[in-house]
Amino acid sequence: MNVLSMVRTLEFIDKGDDRGHLIVVEGKKDIPFDIKRIFYIFGSDSDVIRGQHANRESEFVLINVSGKSKVRIKDGKGNEIIYALNRPHTGIYLPKMIWKEMYDFSEDSVLLCLTNTEYNPQEYIRDYSEYLSIINMNNKECSAIL
Ligand code: TYD
Repeated sequence: MNVLSMVRTLEFIDKGDDRGHLIVVEGKKDIPFDIKRIFYIFGSDSDVIRGQHANRESEFVLINVSGKSKVRIKDGKGNEIIYALNRPHTGIYLPKMIWKEMYDFSEDSVLLCLTNTEYNPQEYIRDYSEYLSIINMNNKECSAIL
């Protein structure tokens, strides 16, 4: 299956009331995996590009809980999609082995990232040409099996 077809936006239910908003994200319920780690990115200038990597094991859900940013995702086969993250009610699910770049951060952007793994720098692919060669190697293996 193409990794881009596994990407999807997730709408979270607002449990707020007249006191304000409240959004709950439970692992395996509101998102497709158990949450092992959270981190959040803020204070990035609008010309900064973050991410620029793929992960062998980690899946992510990204939520701009404040402000806006964009995420460009690539499948290494010439296809790319850009998602605008601009609502605390909306997340984007990114499967493993997808190339991602986060950019165009607003000044008030707080980008919350949920993932299914503990941090392991070894599972990061930070070199785009290495990513392409891994994707192409897998393609060749697939066509060899077919
Ligand atoms: P990096 O992966 O470059 O961030 P981004 O993908 O958002 O641009 O991580 C920046 C630094 O933080 C780097 O030294 C690794 C460290 N880091 C951790 O220690 N644990 C983590 O869970 C993450 C995401 C990063």
